[in-house]
Amino acid sequence: MEILKAGDPRCAQLEREGWTVVGESWGARLRLRGEADLAPARSAVARATDAGIAVRELGRPDLPALAALDAATAPDYPVTPASFHEARSAAALGALLDAGRRAFGAFEQGQLLAATVARRDGERAETDFTCVRRDARRRGLAAAVKGAAVLALAREGARVFGTGGARGNAGSIRMNEALGYVLEERWLSYAPP
Ligand SMILES: CC(C)(COP(=O)(O)OP(=O)(O)OC[C@H]1O[C@@H](n2cnc3c(N)ncnc32)[C@H](O)[C@@H]1OP(=O)(O)O)[C@@H](O)C(=O)NCCC(=O)NCCS
Repeated sequence: MEILKAGDPRCAQLEREGWTVVGESWGARLRLRGEADLAPARSAVARATDAGIAVRELGRPDLPALAALDAATAPDYPVTPASFHEARSAAALGALLDAGRRAFGAFEQGQLLAATVARRDGERAETDFTCVRRDARRRGLAAAVKGAAVLALAREGARVFGTGGARGNAGSIRMNEALGYVLEERWLSYAPP
């Protein structure tokens, strides 16, 4: 298996040799140039809050609920050779928080419906994953939790936010675009002849 960025001259060479594309994934960025670039994140959080959803940072006491949500949604991530998701235990998620990751969740009547986990390295931030309980999708909750993460990491100094996923993940692409992310890269997974 070879994973190449679309446009890499080696793509044409592999195709000449009979390799075939077996998966496609994308990378998107949100580049903060001014306060206005945070407006979509702010309104995503506000829409959820106005609808009675509590959007807040997750901490150690939330780890069992976060692990249960991660396990329940793990089968729903489209799989490509370049993008896949494995559910983590509460202990493994706790280790991510200990290592500086930040997690945000959306609650309704005390139930965790949506969550995102993200990390920052200087001005760069990356999302580890975002998930929403099946019966709570299409209510803007993914955009709300990811928006909350963008706002928090921007306050810490993040300026370029990266994220990615599988080509077929329309919900993920649309949710990121709603927050101002722009699709910048396409990756192709090639299988040998
Ligand atoms: C992808 C996922 C996180 C989206 O969660 P969600 O709460 O339904 O998304 P939102 O309601 O915040 O949607 C934000 C936008 O995306 C659109 N959208 C959401 N799901 C969509 C879908 N399946 N097809 C097309 N558009 C979709 C919404 O209509 C909304 O668009 P709008 O701003 O123009 O109204 C959710 O489907 C999920 O948990 N999937 C499994 C895990 C996964 O794939 N995670 C993403 C990879 S990290």
